[in-house]
Amino acid sequence: MIIGIDIGSTTTKAVSIEFDRDGGGAGQNIKKVKTKAADVITSAAGALGKMLVENNIKIGEIQRIMITGAGASKVNTDLFGIPTEKVDEIRAIGIGGMFLSGKEDIIIANIGTGTAVIDAHPGAISHLGGSGVGGGTILGLAKKLLSLSDFTDIMELAERGNLNQVDLLMEDIMDMNLSFLNPESTASNFGKMLDTARNEDIAMGILNMVYQVIGMLGVFAAKIKHTDRIIVTGNGSDNPIGKKVLQVITDLYSVHFEYPPDAEYTTAIGAGLSWSGRR
Ligand SMILES: Nc1ncnc2c1ncn2[C@@H]1O[C@H](COP(=O)(O)OP(=O)(O)OP(=O)(O)O)[C@@H](O)[C@H]1O
Ligand SMILES: [Mg+2]
Repeated sequence: MIIGIDIGSTTTKAVSIEFDRDGGGAGQNIKKVKTKAADVITSAAGALGKMLVENNIKIGEIQRIMITGAGASKVNTDLFGIPTEKVDEIRAIGIGGMFLSGKEDIIIANIGTGTAVIDAHPGAISHLGGSGVGGGTILGLAKKLLSLSDFTDIMELAERGNLNQVDLLMEDIMDMNLSFLNPESTASNFGKMLDTARNEDIAMGILNMVYQVIGMLGVFAAKIKHTDRIIVTGNGSDNPIGKKVLQVITDLYSVHFEYPPDAEYTTAIGAGLSWSGRR
């Protein structure tokens, strides 16, 4: 059994992957745990411990630990005496994204604390770029503007929000259509900010802005690479409002966003699948 651990900037994810004797057959029965801790070592050890206890796994069953993510650089020792290997995070996202989507030759937008855009082909995975705009941006802005630190609370508030109170829309500034944009398209995020805007509206404005930025980043990446499909991964992939914002972008730009199952574990799964003894 191989354990993949992704020590992200905010959360640590761990997965267990079983391979056949010949190194194939991965993907059956992948087990997953998520944790959060103040420091990298506690986080990695905690995720591993949680995995063992919750799934009744014995430490002797683990052949190797594959670690990746922002925090992996700080782990310079084998964990619990098990051979521990580092995996480049971009590679892990690429391999995990291809595995979970069941597709090759894809663009992946990994929405974590920040956002990374990756071009993945079998044997060739590259980092196209990214943006500091991601889940961390939503939390940071919500903390200061709405005094909220819990994601569920932010989502509940945003569901009742009206974008028209905070965003300057095309219809606010033009009587005719500009290019392919709708009258309801955002001309400027937070560019209107009426005095009557409520916290609900601001929450909606934050989510809309973050997913619009990510969506457009994805669109440009897709256009450059001549594809019309983007695989969305990371914790930020599971966001109903974000998905609606991205759907509007699909309608305008004909680039489709796909959400594979277990997408928040993409990086950890990709790390586990990078095990060289596999083939
Ligand atoms: N439903 C959600 N929608 C959008 N963002 C979310 C949601 N739930 C949590 N987040 C945000 O996702 C971020 C964590 O995601 P994830 O675990 O994928 O990132 P990470 O791996 O820790 O960070 P990174 O990959 O950028 O180093 C946090 O900023 C958190 O606020
Ligand atoms: Mg991550």
